[in-house]
Amino acid sequence: MSDLTRHHAAKGVSDRIALGITKLLRFFADTFFAHRYGHRAIVLETVAGVPGMVGGMMQHLKSLRRMRDDDGWIRELIDEAENERMHLMAFVALFKPNAFERFLVLLAQGVFWNFYFVLYLFAPRTAHRTIGYFEEEAVISYTQFLAEIDAGRIDNGPAPEIAITYWKMAPDARLRDLVIAVRADEMKHRDVNHGFAAKLDATRTPGRNLENEPSTLPANPREHRGETRPALARTSAGP
Ligand SMILES: [Fe+2]
Ligand SMILES: [Fe+2]
Repeated sequence: MSDLTRHHAAKGVSDRIALGITKLLRFFADTFFAHRYGHRAIVLETVAGVPGMVGGMMQHLKSLRRMRDDDGWIRELIDEAENERMHLMAFVALFKPNAFERFLVLLAQGVFWNFYFVLYLFAPRTAHRTIGYFEEEAVISYTQFLAEIDAGRIDNGPAPEIAITYWKMAPDARLRDLVIAVRADEMKHRDVNHGFAAKLDATRTPGRNLENEPSTLPANPREHRGETRPALARTSAGP
């Protein structure tokens, strides 16, 4: 199976719930946005930036409560949230959401933050599995986005400056290059979140040895600390 079509086959109730939530949201997104991939990316990236922040916060609190190291989970999750926010910053420089989409974002954030917080509180494994499935769908959507660009139905204009800086792209990079870079990020989020679900699964399965589980985290521990990531572009004035 290619990296683009990688799919975790649902096993058990928790996986099926995660897949069900994902398919339901996919249906709504497909119905509402159809082929408006730029607008779809903006609205869905405002949602995609939530889980990493909730998960990172929850793992942070868990580490404090249990007085135990987090094995790099917190940094990985917060990095994911930041990376998703940069996807949003890049696309919003090219596509302008309408008033209804902005209202939808407001509504979606209010509902989704709370939903995901409660899910993570009671079923963190299902929460990570859900995001693994969300990311599988994100990879599919960005592949469709690319097909629209290649077919000439979406203008392959210049990539915005903020994206060129963040992904260290060539100065003459186009929208196509941006979509490929974003899709690569989504593939990483997919594998990391499915990996986290597998780790949590392993901790609850008697007889399974955590040491034998595939690592979900970068081999280079410095990456946990963000030291090898591209410098973040400033998106607003701040202290
Ligand atoms: Fe994203
Ligand atoms: Fe993602």
